[in-house]
Amino acid sequence: MTVPARPGLDVLSPYVPGEAKIPGIDNPIRLASNENSMGCSPKAVDAFLSLSRQLHRYPDPSATRLRETISDRFKLHLKRIVCGAGSDELIELLAQAYAGPGDEIIYSQYGFMKYGITAVAVGAKPVPVPEKDFKTQITEILAAITPRTRIVFLANPNNPTGSLLTLDEILTLHRGLPSRVLLVLDAAYADYVDDKTYDPGYFLAEDKENVVVLRTFSKIYGLAALRIGWAYAHESIIDILNRIRGPFTLSAPSQAAACAALGDRQHVQKSFQHNRQWLRWVTQHIQQLRYHVLPSAGNFVMVHFSQSMKPSHRKQGTQLAQDVKSFLNQQGIIVRPLDPYGLPDCLRITIGTAQEMETVVRKFQDYQSRHQHLRQSVG
Ligand SMILES: Cc1ncc(COP(=O)(O)O)c(C=O)c1O
Repeated sequence: MTVPARPGLDVLSPYVPGEAKIPGIDNPIRLASNENSMGCSPKAVDAFLSLSRQLHRYPDPSATRLRETISDRFKLHLKRIVCGAGSDELIELLAQAYAGPGDEIIYSQYGFMKYGITAVAVGAKPVPVPEKDFKTQITEILAAITPRTRIVFLANPNNPTGSLLTLDEILTLHRGLPSRVLLVLDAAYADYVDDKTYDPGYFLAEDKENVVVLRTFSKIYGLAALRIGWAYAHESIIDILNRIRGPFTLSAPSQAAACAALGDRQHVQKSFQHNRQWLRWVTQHIQQLRYHVLPSAGNFVMVHFSQSMKPSHRKQGTQLAQDVKSFLNQQGIIVRPLDPYGLPDCLRITIGTAQEMETVVRKFQDYQSRHQHLRQSVG
C-alpha cells in the first residue's frame, strides 16, 4: 500500500520550468527562464573558483560576509537580512512559517507560479485574485482578505506579465491589510526596472512588522545556477526564518560568488543598459508585426496572441501561440509557453544577447510572411 501524502499533494501540478533543450538541436537559443544573457560578473566566477580547494568545509550557516555585503550595498540593517537557496526557498520558508491547513494565501491571478504551489504544499488554500488587463488589482486583493488570510505574495515587477505596481498601490494595499497578514514583495526583477519612482519596498519592511522584501541573485547578477536569494524584514520575521531554515542550504562558493557579484557594479550597469535597449527594441519590432506585446519592467516580454479576451479569440490566440512556439523551436529558439499560468494564448520571451534578439525578431517576421503566404494561397 502506498503511504498517503497530505491531502491535495497528489493532485498538485508541479512547477513547470523553462525548457533548456530541443531534441536534435545543439546549443539552442534559450529565452525561457529570464536568465541574464550576459552571464555573471567574471569576479563572481573567480570568487567561486577560489573555493574549489575548500569543498570539504561546511559553509558559514549565517552567510555573514554575504549579509554584510548586502547590508553595505543597499544600506540595510544586517540583522534584518536572511539568505536562502534562491528566493524560491525563502518563499517556501515564509509559507511554512506563517500558513498551514485552513489558512489562505493570496496572490495575483497571473502572479509567479511558485506562490500557488507553495500554498498547497503547506496545506493552505491558494487564492488567486483576478487581474484586469494583465495587472494586479489592489482593490480586488483587499476584497479577497478573510479571517483566514495569512500571506499576500506579490511579485513587483510581476513574472510573467512584466507589470509593475506603483508605490502608491503598494501603500494602499498595505494600509488595507490587517496587521496579522504578511505582505511579501518579491522584487526578483527590481534591478531591471527603468522607472525612477519604483521602490522595492525596503523602507516598508523597515517600518512595518508584516512586510518582507525578497531579492535574488538569479536574474541581473546572472547566478541562477548557484541558488542565492535573500529576504529583508522585521527582526521578528527573520528570527522565525532562522529557526526553521536549514543551516547549510547556501553553499560556500555561492556565498563567495554573490559577494563578488555585488561588488561589480559595472557588470550590473552593463546588464541593465543592455536590457533597457533590447527590451524596447524587441517590443517595438514584435509590435510592428501586429502582435500584442505587454509593457514589461523586467528582462522579458509577454506576447499575447489573442485579439481580445473573448473565448473565440482566445481559442485562435492559443492556436497561434502554439504554432509560433513550434516554429521558433524548429528554428532552434526556446521561449516560454504560459499554459500553466492559464495563459495558453501567450508566450514569454527573455531578453537575450543582441544577436539572439535579432534572430528571434527575424524568425517572427519569417513566421508571419510564411503564414500570410499560406492564407493568401488558401484564400
Ligand atoms: C518573481 C520571481 N520570484 C522568484 C523567483 C525565483 O528565483 P530564485 O532563482 O531566486 O529562486 C523567480 C524566478 O524566475 C521569479 O520570477
